[in-house]
Amino acid sequence: MQNEDIVIVQTTSPPQNENLVQLFLMVDNARDLKARSITVVVPYFAYTRQDKRFRPGETFSAKTVMRLLETCGVQKIIIVNSHNPEILRSFRIHVDNVSAISLLAEHFIKEGLDGAFSLSLGKKAQGVAAEANHTLKGGYGYVQTRRDRLTGKVTVKKKSLLVRNKDVIIFDDIISSGGTMIKAIGLVKEQGAQRVYAACVHPLLVGDAKDKIMESGADGIVGTDCVPSPVSLVSVAPLIAKALTERGA
Ligand code: R5P
Repeated sequence: MQNEDIVIVQTTSPPQNENLVQLFLMVDNARDLKARSITVVVPYFAYTRQDKRFRPGETFSAKTVMRLLETCGVQKIIIVNSHNPEILRSFRIHVDNVSAISLLAEHFIKEGLDGAFSLSLGKKAQGVAAEANHTLKGGYGYVQTRRDRLTGKVTVKKKSLLVRNKDVIIFDDIISSGGTMIKAIGLVKEQGAQRVYAACVHPLLVGDAKDKIMESGADGIVGTDCVPSPVSLVSVAPLIAKALTERGA
Protein backbone atom coordinates (compact mmCIF):
# COMPACT_ATOMS: atom_id res chain seq x y z
CA MET A 1 0.00 0.00 0.00
CA GLN A 2 3.02 2.25 0.48
CA ASN A 3 3.00 5.07 -2.11
CA GLU A 4 -0.14 3.71 -3.78
CA ASP A 5 -3.31 5.66 -4.54
CA ILE A 6 -5.94 3.83 -2.52
CA VAL A 7 -9.70 3.75 -3.19
CA ILE A 8 -11.93 2.42 -0.42
CA VAL A 9 -15.55 1.64 -1.32
CA GLN A 10 -17.94 1.47 1.61
CA THR A 11 -21.54 2.54 1.68
CA THR A 12 -22.78 3.42 5.16
CA SER A 13 -26.34 2.16 4.94
CA PRO A 14 -27.78 0.37 8.00
CA PRO A 15 -26.12 -0.93 10.12
CA GLN A 16 -24.65 2.55 9.64
CA ASN A 17 -22.59 2.70 12.83
CA GLU A 18 -20.85 -0.59 12.06
CA ASN A 19 -20.25 0.44 8.44
CA LEU A 20 -18.92 3.86 9.45
CA VAL A 21 -16.49 2.41 12.00
CA GLN A 22 -15.25 -0.08 9.38
CA LEU A 23 -14.72 2.86 7.01
CA PHE A 24 -12.74 4.85 9.60
CA LEU A 25 -10.62 1.77 10.41
CA MET A 26 -9.82 1.09 6.74
CA VAL A 27 -8.95 4.72 6.06
CA ASP A 28 -6.76 5.13 9.12
CA ASN A 29 -5.01 1.86 8.29
CA ALA A 30 -4.27 3.06 4.75
CA ARG A 31 -2.78 6.22 6.19
CA ASP A 32 -0.61 4.24 8.66
CA LEU A 33 0.60 2.07 5.77
CA LYS A 34 1.66 5.24 3.94
CA ALA A 35 -0.77 5.28 1.05
CA ARG A 36 0.05 8.15 -1.31
CA SER A 37 -3.59 9.24 -1.47
CA ILE A 38 -6.87 7.97 -0.05
CA THR A 39 -10.18 8.30 -1.91
CA VAL A 40 -13.35 6.98 -0.31
CA VAL A 41 -16.44 6.03 -2.28
CA VAL A 42 -19.39 6.35 0.10
CA PRO A 43 -22.55 6.10 -2.04
CA TYR A 44 -24.84 6.63 0.96
CA PHE A 45 -23.16 8.75 3.61
CA ALA A 46 -24.95 8.26 6.94
CA TYR A 47 -25.51 11.21 9.27
CA THR A 48 -25.06 13.84 6.56
CA ARG A 49 -28.78 14.66 6.26
CA GLN A 50 -28.43 16.53 9.58
CA ASP A 51 -26.68 19.46 7.92
CA LYS A 52 -27.18 22.00 10.71
CA ARG A 53 -28.41 22.29 14.31
CA PHE A 54 -32.13 22.48 13.64
CA ARG A 55 -32.91 22.92 17.35
CA PRO A 56 -30.57 24.25 20.04
CA GLY A 57 -28.34 21.55 21.49
CA GLU A 58 -28.75 19.08 18.61
CA THR A 59 -25.71 17.51 17.02
CA PHE A 60 -24.46 18.72 13.65
CA SER A 61 -23.69 15.21 12.53
CA ALA A 62 -22.67 15.98 8.92
CA LYS A 63 -19.78 17.99 10.35
CA THR A 64 -18.81 15.25 12.79
CA VAL A 65 -18.50 12.49 10.20
CA MET A 66 -16.61 14.74 7.76
CA ARG A 67 -14.21 15.82 10.51
CA LEU A 68 -13.51 12.20 11.34
CA LEU A 69 -12.71 11.36 7.70
CA GLU A 70 -10.52 14.45 7.44
CA THR A 71 -8.65 13.48 10.60
CA CYS A 72 -8.09 9.99 9.18
CA GLY A 73 -6.39 11.51 6.13
CA VAL A 74 -9.00 11.21 3.35
CA GLN A 75 -8.27 13.48 0.36
CA LYS A 76 -11.32 12.82 -1.74
CA ILE A 77 -14.85 11.47 -1.28
CA ILE A 78 -17.19 10.29 -4.03
CA ILE A 79 -20.79 10.38 -2.86
CA VAL A 80 -24.10 9.85 -4.67
CA ASN A 81 -26.80 12.56 -4.45
CA SER A 82 -25.59 14.09 -1.24
CA HIS A 83 -28.38 15.81 0.70
CA ASN A 84 -26.28 18.97 1.03
CA PRO A 85 -22.96 18.78 -0.86
CA GLU A 86 -22.13 22.42 -0.03
CA ILE A 87 -21.85 21.63 3.67
CA LEU A 88 -19.51 18.72 2.91
CA ARG A 89 -17.41 21.06 0.74
CA SER A 90 -16.56 23.25 3.74
CA PHE A 91 -13.87 20.70 4.67
CA ARG A 92 -10.45 20.07 3.17
CA ILE A 93 -11.68 16.84 1.53
CA HIS A 94 -12.48 17.16 -2.18
CA VAL A 95 -16.15 16.21 -2.69
CA ASP A 96 -17.29 14.62 -5.96
CA ASN A 97 -21.10 14.46 -5.75
CA VAL A 98 -22.49 12.32 -8.58
CA SER A 99 -26.15 11.98 -9.49
CA ALA A 100 -28.10 8.76 -10.02
CA ILE A 101 -31.28 10.54 -11.14
CA SER A 102 -30.75 9.81 -14.86
CA LEU A 103 -30.15 6.14 -14.08
CA LEU A 104 -33.44 6.03 -12.16
CA ALA A 105 -35.22 7.79 -15.03
CA GLU A 106 -33.74 5.31 -17.53
CA HIS A 107 -35.09 2.46 -15.41
CA PHE A 108 -38.60 3.90 -15.76
CA ILE A 109 -38.15 4.26 -19.53
CA LYS A 110 -37.39 0.51 -19.68
CA GLU A 111 -40.60 -0.05 -17.70
CA GLY A 112 -42.58 1.84 -20.36
CA LEU A 113 -43.00 5.11 -18.46
CA ASP A 114 -41.52 7.48 -21.02
CA GLY A 115 -43.53 10.69 -21.04
CA ALA A 116 -44.19 10.49 -17.29
CA PHE A 117 -44.23 13.75 -15.31
CA SER A 118 -41.20 14.17 -13.00
CA LEU A 119 -41.84 15.69 -9.60
CA SER A 120 -39.26 16.60 -6.99
CA LEU A 121 -39.68 17.59 -3.39
CA GLY A 122 -38.51 20.93 -2.04
CA LYS A 123 -37.45 24.06 -3.90
CA LYS A 124 -33.76 23.28 -3.45
CA ALA A 125 -34.31 19.98 -5.25
CA GLN A 126 -36.17 21.38 -8.28
CA GLY A 127 -33.13 20.60 -10.44
CA VAL A 128 -33.71 16.91 -9.70
CA ALA A 129 -37.04 16.88 -11.57
CA ALA A 130 -35.49 18.83 -14.44
CA GLU A 131 -32.67 16.26 -14.61
CA ALA A 132 -35.16 13.37 -14.72
CA ASN A 133 -37.20 15.18 -17.37
CA HIS A 134 -34.21 15.16 -19.77
CA THR A 135 -34.83 11.42 -19.98
CA LEU A 136 -38.57 11.09 -19.34
CA LYS A 137 -39.68 14.18 -21.28
CA GLY A 138 -43.15 14.42 -19.73
CA GLY A 139 -42.79 17.79 -18.00
CA TYR A 140 -41.64 18.50 -14.48
CA GLY A 141 -42.21 20.48 -11.34
CA TYR A 142 -41.66 20.52 -7.62
CA VAL A 143 -43.71 20.81 -4.47
CA GLN A 144 -42.62 22.27 -1.18
CA THR A 145 -42.70 19.95 1.83
CA ARG A 146 -42.11 20.82 5.46
CA ARG A 147 -41.40 18.72 8.52
CA ASP A 148 -42.44 19.91 11.97
CA ARG A 149 -39.26 19.91 14.04
CA LEU A 150 -41.07 18.77 17.18
CA THR A 151 -43.64 16.24 15.99
CA GLY A 152 -41.88 15.07 12.80
CA LYS A 153 -45.19 15.48 10.93
CA VAL A 154 -44.77 16.31 7.25
CA THR A 155 -47.00 18.73 5.34
CA VAL A 156 -47.02 19.53 1.65
CA LYS A 157 -47.90 22.98 0.30
CA LYS A 158 -50.89 22.84 -2.05
CA LYS A 159 -49.91 23.59 -5.62
CA SER A 160 -51.51 22.87 -9.00
CA LEU A 161 -49.47 20.55 -11.16
CA LEU A 162 -49.99 19.44 -14.77
CA VAL A 163 -50.50 15.81 -13.81
CA ARG A 164 -54.13 15.05 -14.71
CA ASN A 165 -54.29 11.71 -16.56
CA LYS A 166 -50.51 11.51 -16.57
CA ASP A 167 -48.15 8.99 -15.03
CA VAL A 168 -46.06 10.66 -12.34
CA ILE A 169 -42.69 9.74 -10.87
CA ILE A 170 -41.81 11.43 -7.59
CA PHE A 171 -38.06 11.74 -7.02
CA ASP A 172 -36.39 12.24 -3.66
CA ASP A 173 -32.83 11.73 -2.44
CA ILE A 174 -33.86 9.70 0.62
CA ILE A 175 -36.95 7.81 1.66
CA SER A 176 -36.69 7.20 5.38
CA SER A 177 -40.03 7.02 7.22
CA GLY A 178 -41.91 7.49 3.94
CA GLY A 179 -43.88 10.43 5.40
CA THR A 180 -42.72 12.95 2.80
CA MET A 181 -43.36 10.63 -0.16
CA ILE A 182 -46.83 9.70 1.10
CA LYS A 183 -47.86 13.37 1.26
CA ALA A 184 -46.60 13.98 -2.28
CA ILE A 185 -48.42 10.88 -3.58
CA GLY A 186 -51.64 12.16 -1.97
CA LEU A 187 -51.26 15.52 -3.69
CA VAL A 188 -50.77 14.17 -7.22
CA LYS A 189 -53.50 11.56 -6.79
CA GLU A 190 -55.92 14.33 -5.71
CA GLN A 191 -55.04 16.13 -8.94
CA GLY A 192 -55.91 13.16 -11.14
CA ALA A 193 -52.53 11.51 -11.73
CA GLN A 194 -52.72 8.06 -13.26
CA ARG A 195 -49.91 5.71 -12.21
CA VAL A 196 -47.65 7.13 -9.46
CA TYR A 197 -44.17 5.83 -8.67
CA ALA A 198 -41.83 6.73 -5.82
CA ALA A 199 -38.17 6.96 -6.84
CA CYS A 200 -35.24 7.62 -4.57
CA VAL A 201 -31.48 7.28 -4.51
CA HIS A 202 -31.24 6.09 -0.90
CA PRO A 203 -34.11 3.73 0.02
CA LEU A 204 -33.69 3.51 3.79
CA LEU A 205 -37.38 2.58 4.13
CA VAL A 206 -37.32 2.44 7.90
CA GLY A 207 -39.86 0.10 9.58
CA ASP A 208 -43.00 -0.37 7.50
CA ALA A 209 -42.31 2.63 5.20
CA LYS A 210 -42.51 0.47 2.06
CA ASP A 211 -45.95 -0.91 2.94
CA LYS A 212 -47.23 2.51 3.96
CA ILE A 213 -46.13 4.05 0.65
CA MET A 214 -47.80 1.27 -1.35
CA GLU A 215 -50.97 1.59 0.75
CA SER A 216 -51.03 5.33 0.02
CA GLY A 217 -51.59 4.52 -3.65
CA ALA A 218 -48.13 4.16 -5.18
CA ASP A 219 -47.80 1.77 -8.10
CA GLY A 220 -44.19 1.01 -7.21
CA ILE A 221 -41.06 2.15 -5.39
CA VAL A 222 -37.66 2.15 -7.06
CA GLY A 223 -34.32 2.93 -5.44
CA THR A 224 -30.63 2.40 -6.07
CA ASP A 225 -28.15 0.04 -4.49
CA CYS A 226 -26.49 2.91 -2.54
CA VAL A 227 -28.67 1.34 0.16
CA PRO A 228 -29.35 -2.37 -0.41
CA SER A 229 -33.10 -3.06 -0.08
CA PRO A 230 -35.89 -4.98 -1.83
CA VAL A 231 -36.50 -1.93 -4.07
CA SER A 232 -32.84 -1.32 -5.00
CA LEU A 233 -33.33 -2.10 -8.68
CA VAL A 234 -30.83 0.40 -10.09
CA SER A 235 -27.08 -0.06 -9.75
CA VAL A 236 -24.87 2.98 -9.28
CA ALA A 237 -21.74 1.00 -10.27
CA PRO A 238 -21.50 2.66 -13.74
CA LEU A 239 -21.62 6.12 -12.11
CA ILE A 240 -18.85 5.30 -9.65
CA ALA A 241 -16.71 3.69 -12.36
CA LYS A 242 -17.15 6.80 -14.52
CA ALA A 243 -16.23 9.17 -11.68
CA LEU A 244 -13.10 7.16 -10.93
CA THR A 245 -11.96 6.76 -14.54
CA GLU A 246 -12.78 10.28 -15.73
CA ARG A 247 -11.74 12.27 -12.71
CA GLY A 248 -9.32 9.84 -11.06
CA ALA A 249 -8.78 8.81 -7.45
C1 R5P B 1 -35.50 15.76 3.18
O1 R5P B 1 -34.99 16.88 3.14
C2 R5P B 1 -35.13 14.67 2.23
O2 R5P B 1 -34.89 15.13 0.95
C3 R5P B 1 -36.24 13.62 2.21
O3 R5P B 1 -37.42 14.23 1.72
C4 R5P B 1 -36.48 13.08 3.59
O4 R5P B 1 -35.28 12.60 4.10
C5 R5P B 1 -37.51 11.98 3.56
O5 R5P B 1 -37.72 11.54 4.87
P1 R5P B 1 -39.01 10.74 5.25
O6 R5P B 1 -39.10 9.56 4.35
O7 R5P B 1 -38.78 10.33 6.68
O8 R5P B 1 -40.18 11.64 5.13
